[in-house]
Amino acid sequence: MTIGAFLHPFAPPARPRDEFVTIVEGRGAVVTDDRGRSYIDAMASLWYCNVGYGRRELVEAITAQAERIAGFHTFTSFTNEPAETLAERIVDLSPFDEARVFLCQSGSEAVDTAMKLARVAHVRRGRPHRRILVSRGRGYHGVNYGGTSLSGIPVNREGFEPFVEATVVVDPDDPGKLEATLEAYPGEVAAVIVEPVQGASGVWPPPEGYLAAVRELCDAHGAFLVFDEVITGFGRLGTWFAAQRYGVTPDMITFAKAVTSGYVPLAGVIVGPSVRRALEEDDDFVLRHGYTYSGHPLAAACALANLDLIEREGLLDRVPGIETRLGGGLRDLADEGRIAAARGVGGMWAAAMPDGVAETQVAARMLERGVIARPVPGTIVFCPPLVITDAELDRVVDALATALGT
Ligand SMILES: Cc1ncc(COP(=O)(O)O)c(C=O)c1O
Repeated sequence: MTIGAFLHPFAPPARPRDEFVTIVEGRGAVVTDDRGRSYIDAMASLWYCNVGYGRRELVEAITAQAERIAGFHTFTSFTNEPAETLAERIVDLSPFDEARVFLCQSGSEAVDTAMKLARVAHVRRGRPHRRILVSRGRGYHGVNYGGTSLSGIPVNREGFEPFVEATVVVDPDDPGKLEATLEAYPGEVAAVIVEPVQGASGVWPPPEGYLAAVRELCDAHGAFLVFDEVITGFGRLGTWFAAQRYGVTPDMITFAKAVTSGYVPLAGVIVGPSVRRALEEDDDFVLRHGYTYSGHPLAAACALANLDLIEREGLLDRVPGIETRLGGGLRDLADEGRIAAARGVGGMWAAAMPDGVAETQVAARMLERGVIARPVPGTIVFCPPLVITDAELDRVVDALATALGT
């Protein structure tokens, strides 16, 4: 029972090495472990592998870029073609007409970047008192101090206090509560950040009209609106961004995960016209924010190949089928009373567990039956690669039904 040197994320530090499943390879929606057992990955790893595993096009793009130059920084006065091209491409796919794209490596960095950009944009506009950042209960915005301070998942905050100042978490579903907060701090709120569909807390689509109401409130109170699209960005809901699916345009969008399908870590912030203009007004202003690997050419080349693949294979068009097959399968289980509820939209779904059923045990039994799903308190969540087949989706639902054992 030895403990390995690798200190795992979101795992008990005391868990012995041999209790981890060692994944060694993958093809399509299937991954294989070091004992030769195969699993349908109903989570696209951690909500990211939209194009599926083993895609030669991505490997070739990464290799070709590495052979030219793997990395060179983009601070101050350097740039590279893959990063420049990728930024233009993302702007074209985005709901904005004139945006810019900041690049980093993780969703957590993207969130902290958006928080800092919101504050500094207000400072540039002569509104330094706009410092408060507001988020929703149940929200997950990564694990850096900014995102942890905005976290609406209490267990993820435990033990990490004190948090970033001037952060407020409000009720997740009631725009009236957000309005009350905006009114309680007149002229002080810099931005409101929301996941259009909350993922990590158990897949919660927004209440009808909620996102439009938040947009109106932000406009009325002079606060920026940030959509955290780290999961929903790049096709998860059948549109490039959730903003387009819900017809609500924020001021900034954070993204990560499916921008490269996770082949190389990459994330960023799409900076819409309202924030962009505030940053560009003064020629002497320097944005003193950025990461060593911002605009990393290898990651950008990978993203470009990934976007090509999503477009060429029409993967966004596969989402309605996933919605019907997986969402429909879960709804049937809910109708039969075998799960408490089915929640979801597009390619992200959740099965709420009946009272007394431990989601960790259900997920473990599904794993034994060759399906990877993710337990979060009270719920099993699903977010399959967009290339998953109908037969594989049926096996996912069957594995859940069997694992429930009812
Ligand atoms: C909505 C959202 N924001 C931010 C993050 C943090 O991303 P990362 O784990 O890449 O830092 C996640 C990760 O799942 C997320 O789902």
